[in-house]
Amino acid sequence: MALRPIVTAPHPLLKQVSKPVEMVNDATRALVDDMLETMYAAPGIGLAAIQVGIPKRIITMDVSKEPDPPSPLVLINPEIVWSSDTEQSYEEGCLSFPDQYAEVDRPASIEVKYLDRDGKAQVLKAEGLLAVCIQHEMDHLEGVLFVDHLSTLKRSMILRRMGKAKRLNTAAE
Ligand code: NI
Repeated sequence: MALRPIVTAPHPLLKQVSKPVEMVNDATRALVDDMLETMYAAPGIGLAAIQVGIPKRIITMDVSKEPDPPSPLVLINPEIVWSSDTEQSYEEGCLSFPDQYAEVDRPASIEVKYLDRDGKAQVLKAEGLLAVCIQHEMDHLEGVLFVDHLSTLKRSMILRRMGKAKRLNTAAE
């Protein structure tokens, strides 16, 4: 397993649409394990493969809270098959937007089908934070970021802060 560098905004990779995984094999699992390690180390509760520069439809998540044991979740080629009309608002962050948070509205419950780490088809019904996290990560597969759900004003404020942070980091290198 290895930590992979996380791509931060603004970066063209984050706008890219990811491709389906054709076969879940050892290479897929190696990437999944790297993603989980990278996500836990960040620390974060969700990561899409494109955030480590790989345009494949893979997401890793863990929304468990201490003192509960870790509960890693791997979704390959996820598809939302049902979502509620009721929405919920949640303050979201993103590992590609360090220190930036904003309220986003999304369907409160969803049903998603996907392949697990072994390539087995699964269906999961989710609500609360898990539903938020799945939808946020699935957006990444389409090149959509949480800031794209915000008003133009809020989005440009966050993007401006990100651009400034990036220039400062580059200057420090
Ligand atoms: Ni994100």
